[in-house]
Amino acid sequence: MDMPEEVSSAGAKIKKTIVEVYPNVYQILGQNRSAHAYLIKGQHKNVLIDSCLPDGVESVRACLAEVGLTQDDLHMILLTHEHIDHAGGVPELGPKTIVAAHRLAANKLTLQDEFVLMNKAFGSASDLFHIDMFLSEGASINLGNYELQVIHTPGHCSGAVCFYEPVHRLLFSGDVVMANGIVGGVLQSGNISDYIYSLRRLATLRLDHLFPGHGKVSNQAQSDVERGIERLETLLDESKTLFHVVQNSEHGFDYIMRSLRDLNR
Ligand SMILES: [Fe+2]
Repeated sequence: MDMPEEVSSAGAKIKKTIVEVYPNVYQILGQNRSAHAYLIKGQHKNVLIDSCLPDGVESVRACLAEVGLTQDDLHMILLTHEHIDHAGGVPELGPKTIVAAHRLAANKLTLQDEFVLMNKAFGSASDLFHIDMFLSEGASINLGNYELQVIHTPGHCSGAVCFYEPVHRLLFSGDVVMANGIVGGVLQSGNISDYIYSLRRLATLRLDHLFPGHGKVSNQAQSDVERGIERLETLLDESKTLFHVVQNSEHGFDYIMRSLRDLNR
């Protein structure tokens, strides 16, 4: 379903776009640089995967209302990782809800590591991130109609996880991999080699449907993952070429080493 804008009590326009992308799985479309969130209506519990940007909370509430829910009907918010376009709604949506993230994502959120979060850069008014539960590799969330298995997938950042549903072959991938094999890039605490390892692990699963944090959903998840691996292997090769060029340049690694040392001042 795709609804028009409505006007909030404060007079601001609230966009609300919620689409049922799979039975009882709804995509809440990200607005203004926000990632998408996904609502799963379980048999007994409702789960929200990611929470949009801080200024997207009104839109999330409006979307929940379209399917007969309020934020108090959310039993869990599961975060794919710590970046603010995914986690930014937690302070407002999460007070009565169990919020769960990988330990490495939770650490950055609760310590308010601004180099990683870019919280203020996205206009957040809140610093209050509280994570109730850590998501470890192999953990499973049983919703009755769906079972979400946690797969730790570092690379984009250290605290990234994907949620794999083995019966329906669904993957909620956050920024790890998107349609057509687009990858979310290597940001602070990430690295290319872990990223390749994570995608190679995903490639061993039986995947059909990809529900990413950005862009379109995909029914070709397996090839999306494989194309993502190819992109990252290319990036790794290019980085080797870059370092080879730097090694043979006039200044060598001075600039790189100086910038690393500067972080410690
Ligand atoms: Fe991200």
